[in-house]
Amino acid sequence: MRINGTATRSVWLEPDGWSVGILDQTLLPWRVERLQLRSAADAAHAIASMQTRGAPLIGAVAAYGLALALRDDASDDNLARAYAALLASRPTAINLKWALDDVSAQVRDLPRAERAQAAYRRAAAICDEDVAINQAIGRHGLKLIEAIAARKKPDEPVNILTHCNAGWLATVDLGTATAPIYTAHDSGMPVHVFVDETRPRNQGASLTAFELGQHGVPHTVIADNVGGHLMQHGQVDMVIVGTDRTTGQGDVCNKIGTYLKALAAHDNAVPFYVGLPSPTIDFGVRHGVAEVPIEQRGAAEVATITGRTADGRIETVTIVPDGSAVANPAFDVTPARLVTGLITERGVIAASREALERTFPDHPSHRRPQEAAE
Ligand code: MRU
Repeated sequence: MRINGTATRSVWLEPDGWSVGILDQTLLPWRVERLQLRSAADAAHAIASMQTRGAPLIGAVAAYGLALALRDDASDDNLARAYAALLASRPTAINLKWALDDVSAQVRDLPRAERAQAAYRRAAAICDEDVAINQAIGRHGLKLIEAIAARKKPDEPVNILTHCNAGWLATVDLGTATAPIYTAHDSGMPVHVFVDETRPRNQGASLTAFELGQHGVPHTVIADNVGGHLMQHGQVDMVIVGTDRTTGQGDVCNKIGTYLKALAAHDNAVPFYVGLPSPTIDFGVRHGVAEVPIEQRGAAEVATITGRTADGRIETVTIVPDGSAVANPAFDVTPARLVTGLITERGVIAASREALERTFPDHPSHRRPQEAAE
């Protein structure tokens, strides 16, 4: 996708051929700054501090993190150390483990001298595969948008509500939830996006609005509590969100607040879709609400808010009284029964075990956990 007209991915190999570039997403939308990762520790820090974020993207950056580690020291011990540090950087999105397992499996039987190169090759392939997956999600999701557009007047936009950022900044390119939106927009179809601000970190207001704006997609940022009201008044045609981990039975773990949007959509018969790339499926988890580990983040994210002042400074101010307790669970689980459909790279399917197993019989998470770790 584009930043100021220049095609940009969210992660790339630098011209030196070994260090890894990312955008510092903690500074968007106010400043576009690039960061250079030179070690596995740099990659783990960038993921934990959310300089880079979004389920597919942290998988891709972690894959490069292993390549950086093996470039330094290709021993089994260093591979295990880097794997553990990267895996611990964030707990909820399964893409992180998927990518680390994938790269580890590619390199562990190779002679040491070949490991780093193989890891770089696989990390680059994971990035390209992510883009191809998102393009396919875009094509399948486009049909859903077209079906809604066919019921509207010719120039009337299809109104899509999204939560958090499951856009190109959360992936290598194009995004998951946004892929159908960009595909529809690029095909000349009028679409308009309601962007949930997504407290506490405001990934909607800061990142989704930024990327939609850069691509010229009409959008309106709304406070998190507005979606239900808009749905009651017929202003939302469909919801499309991303996911950090979707269980084998179709429960969708995504950014905190997604569940409330799904409840409101259900109550108002608004279709609720999830852009689901297959590396985000975890067949190893059966019951999402009970089993998916929910990241608990620091109180400061809730107690403060960051923005740009009129004279251009980026400042953080406190909005909660001193002494008030603050809780900050970062994700929630939307039960499968509230999900109209999963937009995967292999088509739009029901959020059910039967449909997921039929569509992804070859998925690596079907293997028993110890098998996958070997
Ligand atoms: O905490 P974040 O910003 O990493 O959370 C991101 C989300 O919840 C996205 O919706 C999800 O990762 C899907 S990204 C295609």
